[in-house]
Amino acid sequence: MHPLLTIAVRAARRAGDVILRAAGQSDALTVEAKQRNDFVTEIDRQAEQEIIQIIRRAYPDHAILGEEGGQIGEHEVTWIIDPLDGTTNFIHGLPHYAVSIGIRIRGRLEHGVIHDPTRGEIYTATRGSGAFLNDRRIRVATARGLEGALIGTGLPFRDFSHAPAYYGMLQAVAGKTAGIRRAGSAALDLAYVAAGRLDGYWELGLKPWDIAAGVILVQEAGGIVGNLSGEPEGFMESGNLVCGNPRLFAALVREIEPHLTPMLRIQSRP
Ligand code: IPD
Ligand code: CA
Ligand code: CA
Repeated sequence: MHPLLTIAVRAARRAGDVILRAAGQSDALTVEAKQRNDFVTEIDRQAEQEIIQIIRRAYPDHAILGEEGGQIGEHEVTWIIDPLDGTTNFIHGLPHYAVSIGIRIRGRLEHGVIHDPTRGEIYTATRGSGAFLNDRRIRVATARGLEGALIGTGLPFRDFSHAPAYYGMLQAVAGKTAGIRRAGSAALDLAYVAAGRLDGYWELGLKPWDIAAGVILVQEAGGIVGNLSGEPEGFMESGNLVCGNPRLFAALVREIEPHLTPMLRIQSRP
C-alpha cells in the first residue's frame, strides 16, 4: 500500500472508532445547524480532529481541506476530508454513514479511502493500482443499460434552486430502471458503485469532501465519472456528478441531459 494511503486508512479507522463509540448514545448528541438542514455534531468535529492529528504527525506540511475546518495551509498535496458523511443518518440512529478521505496531488486525485465503521468495510484506491474493499479487488457492475439497473441518487434538501430540473431527471431515470435508492451518504453511494452494488449514481450540489475519495474509487474500479452532460470534467467544481460503468454512464446521461437548465449547463463547465 502506498505510504500516503496507509496513513489515510489509519486516520479513517481512528475517526470510525470515534463515530462508533458515539453511535450508541445518539440521544446525548449536541446537534447544531450550520444552515437549514445542514447539521453538525461534536462527533463530526472530533472525528475530523483525529484525522488531522494523524496526517499532521506523518506529513506536517501537507495542505488539508476538511468539511468542518476548511482549508489549512498550501501544498501540492491536499487531503480532502469528510469526517462523517451521512450526518443526518447518524443523528437519527440510522446506521449508514462513512468517513471519506481523498488525496489530491498537483490538482489530480491520486488516493482515496472510504470507511463504513458500522459494517467494518474499508474501500481504498490508488491511481493505477485498482480499487479494493477490505483487500479484495472490486469492479463496477456490468449492466449494459438502465433496464434492470439499481441507481443511487440524492434528493435536493437544502438548496432547491435546481429541484424542478432534478425531479425531471428522477422521473426519466426511475421510469427505466429496476429502482432508485436515496441512502444519505454520497461517499457510500460512490463506494457502492465501485463495488458493483449500485449500477450508477448521480447527484447535484455535492462538495469536494463528499466525492474526492469516491471519484478515484469508481475510476479505479473501471467506472466513468463525469458532469451532467457526460463530460469527464467540471464535476469537482460544480458538485454535479454522474457515474457508472461506461455503458451505463452513457445511458444515464441520455436521461439526465435533456433536463439541464442553462444555469446547470454553465455550472458543468470546468
Ligand atoms: C451529505 C450526504 C448526502 C448528500 C448531501 C451531503 P453530510 O453529506 O453525502 O448523501 O445528499 O449532499 O451534504 O452533510 O452528511 O456530510
Ligand atoms: Ca458529506
Ligand atoms: Ca460530513
